[in-house]
Order: sequence, then C-alpha cells, then structure tokens
Amino acid sequence: MINFIKTDPARIQENAIDLIGNQWMLITAGTRDSYNTMTASWGGSGMLWNKPVMFVFVRPQRYTYGFLEANDTFTCCFFDHKYRNALRFCGANSGRDFDKAKETGLTPAETESGSIYFSESRLILECKKLYFQDLDPNGFLSPVIQKNYPLNDYHRMYVGEITTCLIQDK
Ligand SMILES: Cc1cc2nc3c(=O)[nH]c(=O)nc-3n(C[C@H](O)[C@H](O)[C@H](O)COP(=O)(O)O)c2cc1C
Repeated sequence: MINFIKTDPARIQENAIDLIGNQWMLITAGTRDSYNTMTASWGGSGMLWNKPVMFVFVRPQRYTYGFLEANDTFTCCFFDHKYRNALRFCGANSGRDFDKAKETGLTPAETESGSIYFSESRLILECKKLYFQDLDPNGFLSPVIQKNYPLNDYHRMYVGEITTCLIQDK
C-alpha cells in the first residue's frame, strides 16, 4: 500500500530544472472514466499572482490537449528512475492509440477532488488551471526558438495553481 503525505509545495527540496527537464513528468487531465496522460519535460514551477504554480507547455495535436481544455484541473506526476520506460512509452505514443496505463502498468487513482494521478508517483502536484496562452512567434527574440516549430504548432501554456502536493511516504 503506497501512502502519500500532503506537503506545502514550498517545502519541496528539489531542483525544478532537473526534476522537470531531466527526470520528466506525466501531465494527466480528465476523470476516472475519461482521462489521458503524456510525458513532458518542458515546463516550470514558481510563484505567480501570489500562488505556487506550475507552467506546462502542450502542443495542440496532443490527445492530452483536449483533456486539458475540457477539465479544470491537471496533475504533474514525478517518478523514480525505474519508471523511465513507462514515461518513454507515454511520450512516444498517443492515448488515441493505446491505453497508456494498461501498456505501462501504471495505476490511475483519483485525488480527493477527482483529478487523476498515478499511484506509483513519488511526487504529485495537483493543479487548478488559472491561465492559458498560446505561444506567439512574434515574441520569439531568438531565431533558434522557431526551429522547434517546423509545423507552426506553437505550444499552449497552461499556468496551474498547485492546490495539492503529495509526496510518497517511503
Ligand atoms: C521526454 C519527453 C518530453 C516531452 N515533453 C513534451 C512537452 O513538454 N510538451 C508536449 O506537448 N509534448 C511533449 N512530449 C511529447 C508527448 O509526450 C508525445 O507527443 C505524446 O505521445 C503525446 O501523447 P498524447 O497524444 O496521448 O497526448 C515529450 C515527449 C518526451 C519523450
């Protein structure tokens, strides 16, 4: 039985660049009956409007995008290295084609407020959407940035207030 301890997000003792950029996360949105998850390594965490927040960046063609649009909350789940292959799978395949939980063995579960996370996570950040904005190429101040968008499929940025932070009790 995996237990989680509710923590103040300000007490997380991790480097956000390593955590998100190197260890990756699963972004999950939806309900128990209808949800999707995808791997992400671009994003950030900090303070905005006096609230602890996550920033995530999702391209419009992701199946997860529709779930982020349709739901008020999402979760960012972080895992031990042994789940790296599961995250690889969720970052290389679409929920349109696969049941990612079934394929990876990850176990979906519901937070008290009904967001979906995975029981195997070592850190879960439940977020309430506060803001979104599509990246605007007019704002790119370096030509290198556009190279990420040969299809002009600019990410939608979601800012989510971290409403619950759960750390696995090991
Ligand atoms: C390491 C890694 C990081 C990724 N980061 C992002 C990201 O930050 N934003 C994004 O839109 N896609 C990102 N992707 C791509 C999606 O995870 C991938 O397209 C996935 O298959 C989408 O699944 P879906 O169609 O079920 O939503 C990443 C993939 C990998 C492997």
